[in-house]
Amino acid sequence: GDGKGRIDFEHVSFSYEGGHGESVLKDITFSCLPGETVGIIGSTGSGKSSLVGLIPRFYDATKGTVRVDGVDVREVDPKLLREKMAIVPQKTVLFTGTVKENIRWGKEEATDEEMELAARMAQAHDFIERTPDGYQARVGQGGINFSGGQKQRLSIARALVRKPEILILDDSTSAVDVATETKIKEALREYAQGLTCLLIAQRITSVMDADKIVVLDQGELVGIGTHESLLKDCRVYQEIFQS
Ligand code: GTP
Repeated sequence: GDGKGRIDFEHVSFSYEGGHGESVLKDITFSCLPGETVGIIGSTGSGKSSLVGLIPRFYDATKGTVRVDGVDVREVDPKLLREKMAIVPQKTVLFTGTVKENIRWGKEEATDEEMELAARMAQAHDFIERTPDGYQARVGQGGINFSGGQKQRLSIARALVRKPEILILDDSTSAVDVATETKIKEALREYAQGLTCLLIAQRITSVMDADKIVVLDQGELVGIGTHESLLKDCRVYQEIFQS
């Protein structure tokens, strides 16, 4: 389709400056089509976070090209590029303020309705409403008064309120139980149609229903396909599945 949110990796290699020159990503080629959910799986250190960090240009490919909506990201104004996407980092960053301020951070013009829809999709609305002050409840420093899974859901809500074309979840549901994680994915399918979603995960259940899954191993793309096809012919995927 001609929808927005397409991402192409073309022969992308990457090494960190001062990283002794070893390649963290080696000749990676794959595409995320508009509206697709693409899972990224691989053992710790395989390069998953580095891979998605190339999309908003946290750093640039050493070789090859990353394209968003068909355009080389190096040719786009970084501000415009980043407006298209929302990234939920591995470690959630909540600040002292209300729940509402935390969700609307970076999108202060969002209405209460938009904020609530984002919180509903992130499966955060119910636990927010259960606290005495609801959206006006104070978030303690670093979010200490919320559980790990609740903090992750608040940061997913913060990402969704920006209405991105591209949503990148970097292991952002690791502390959320599988049933709630499934509800988040169902809500995204229902209310955020057309959203391209990259889902980094440690557990297979998080990605098994993705349109396709990219398997990384020591910086190499060693498999790409659906859960069923990878179970058949990707050894690394089979090993993750059995572990
Ligand atoms: P987990 O988050 O642990 O699941 O790993 P990952 O698959 O996301 O791998 P990641 O992209 O974080 O790391 C890939 C390789 O790059 C590892 O060998 C890291 O040690 C290395 N690395 C990650 N971040 C940096 C950095 O900022 N500087 C340098 N020099 N190396 C880094």
